[in-house]
Amino acid sequence: MMKYKKALVTGGAGFIGSHLVEELLKNNVRVLVIDNLLTGKKTNLDRLENIDVIYDDLGSNESLKEVEKFNPEICFHLAAQSSVVISVEDPLLDFEHNLLQPIKLIQTLISTDCKKFVFSSSGGTIFGEPNVIPTSEEDFAGEPVSPYGIAKKNLNDFIKLMLENEKMSYSILNLSNVYGPRQDPHGEAGVMSIFTGKMLNNEKPIIYGDGNQTRDYVFVTDVVSALIKSSENDNDLFLNIGTGIETSVNELVSLISVTTSWEGQPDYKPQRDGELLRSVLNNEKAKKSLDWEPVYNLNEGIEKLVDWFRNS
Ligand SMILES: NC(=O)c1ccc[n+]([C@@H]2O[C@H](COP(=O)([O-])OP(=O)(O)OC[C@H]3O[C@@H](n4cnc5c(N)ncnc54)[C@H](O)[C@@H]3O)[C@@H](O)[C@H]2O)c1
Repeated sequence: MMKYKKALVTGGAGFIGSHLVEELLKNNVRVLVIDNLLTGKKTNLDRLENIDVIYDDLGSNESLKEVEKFNPEICFHLAAQSSVVISVEDPLLDFEHNLLQPIKLIQTLISTDCKKFVFSSSGGTIFGEPNVIPTSEEDFAGEPVSPYGIAKKNLNDFIKLMLENEKMSYSILNLSNVYGPRQDPHGEAGVMSIFTGKMLNNEKPIIYGDGNQTRDYVFVTDVVSALIKSSENDNDLFLNIGTGIETSVNELVSLISVTTSWEGQPDYKPQRDGELLRSVLNNEKAKKSLDWEPVYNLNEGIEKLVDWFRNS
């Protein structure tokens, strides 16, 4: 039984958003999705019934009027221009979707009965190269190196400031690298999906640099459970959501190649500018305050991902 019965989900036609919507519906929560289909897909919501969807910018006047009318008890704000590379090529586009429109949304929500604002921020991009590994919420010292990271970091600050004296509390979750079914294998985000797609097509995955760079890969179902658990907590929260386990790109290739039965060698290309060498989040604070922990290990998650590729 969930605490809230009426939820607004921005970005609900996207990868993580569509998994969250599915779980909310299973728990009889009434859901309004707003998604402009920048990267989201209508097919991600195809099988779901009893759901209201607006395919538009969340910051449009029409969408904001619908938000007022819907009067959500909780907002999961997952919408974003979600590509770091695109944010570098087109910072204005990133600013529009990742900062300007969300600020309009928060302003509107303040005028409703909404009690909680849950935001999917980014542990890997808002702080630059970390100096402590695994990195806790307090260990971060650097500055973001992309417009995407700058927007996420600034939105965190806007949320804290704008909700300071309001009846709405917030959960800001710094997600590590999320993977799972429905992540777009054609995009730049989601190395796991890109590699799996390539290997199943018997193509070579491309590794930029020597492949020793590390990331913290967390399965989407674990992220959904963190989003939901954090939504039921009335405190203001700022939490890292990851596994605390560091995996190199080379290790990832060998794990996926076992599950896909791919036999070959990846293509190595020069390292890309601005790419962090190591990124792994300390999740102890989330474990304590949410009574949450990731339950999928990498092998289980990869198996689920490969099954999905094979059946879709
Ligand atoms: N996938 C990851 O590894 C990861 C890591 C850290 C943070 N995040 C964050 O989690 C959230 C979900 O990411 P995802 O991986 O599901 O990406 P995604 O691209 O699949 O989902 C983002 C969704 O937002 C929609 N959208 C973009 N701008 C919008 C706007 N102005 N109005 C309405 N809809 C809009 C897109 O169409 C898309 O459906 C994003 O905020 C992303 O930045 C993701």
